[in-house]
Amino acid sequence: MHRFDLTGRTALVTGAARGLGRALALALAEAGADLVLVDLPDAPGLTETADLVRGTGRTAHLHPQDLARTDELTAFADRVRAAVGPLHILVNNAGVAALERYNEITPESWSRTMRVNLDAVFFLSQRVAEHMVKDGVAGRIITVTSKNALVAEAGLAHYNASKAAADSLTQTLAIELAPHGITVNALAPGMVETPIDGEFPFDREAFEAAYRERIPLGRYARPDECAGALLLLASDAGSYVTGTRIVVDGGVLADQMPRTRFMPPYRNTLDPDRPPSP
Ligand SMILES: NC(=O)c1ccc[n+]([C@@H]2O[C@H](COP(=O)([O-])OP(=O)(O)OC[C@H]3O[C@@H](n4cnc5c(N)ncnc54)[C@H](O)[C@@H]3O)[C@@H](O)[C@H]2O)c1
Repeated sequence: MHRFDLTGRTALVTGAARGLGRALALALAEAGADLVLVDLPDAPGLTETADLVRGTGRTAHLHPQDLARTDELTAFADRVRAAVGPLHILVNNAGVAALERYNEITPESWSRTMRVNLDAVFFLSQRVAEHMVKDGVAGRIITVTSKNALVAEAGLAHYNASKAAADSLTQTLAIELAPHGITVNALAPGMVETPIDGEFPFDREAFEAAYRERIPLGRYARPDECAGALLLLASDAGSYVTGTRIVVDGGVLADQMPRTRFMPPYRNTLDPDRPPSP
């Protein structure tokens, strides 16, 4: 387990006030890292995440920042470096998703999605990487993208495009930063139980039931089920993993045909007397 030990390292997690960001911050703290927690200045859950991190015995620094303010991000990264010292791990997790048909997306909504999901990932990674190089830190940059970086979902043209671009960015940064020993990877979840979708303009329950049927593991992920992949990418265990992505989607991308639902019930040939299961 020492390969996963993050004692003595400092990790910055964006979007840490709730959902996946909170679970990932907590997992890093449990592995020994001190945390810099970033979210919107008025995000109610940020202090609660800090309390949870401190409960593990690690330090939590709160640095609220609206990541949509692209031109503030370089100075923001400099402020964080000055306040907490060298950063070893950057987790670009904050993201927004608005369910809108392609012809309903306004320039404002398009721009906000891109600024949070893509521009902030780039400009924060850019400055933090420069600090890592200057500090001689063989750092880790992990961006939470989505399975939607690889396949589309209706009603999310801007979101899908932002995640695909962030996935591509991961590759470019990985090859440019490899000479400095910094690894850059994406973590691509499928459906996770978090509040991200907010308002649903249609029957959420029916949609989620139908979606669950499409997931080979049969359910959404709990946020903490993305933590194992993150710890690999953030620790010495993943020292030779760069420029790639880990998909954590319960098998959705592997299954393009819901055939198992229509096949005869499963019978274990080693145990023919056992009653068949679905
Ligand atoms: N939940 C899912 O099913 C799912 C699936 C695939 C990928 N993801 C990705 O995981 C990441 C986390 O999503 P989540 O489901 O936890 O969402 P969430 O909405 O629960 O949490 C996102 C956090 O980001 C913060 N944030 C949003 N805009 C910000 C800004 N301008 N500045 C600073 N912070 C901002 C929010 O305040 C919130 O705390 C996102 O990048 C999302 O695209 C989520």
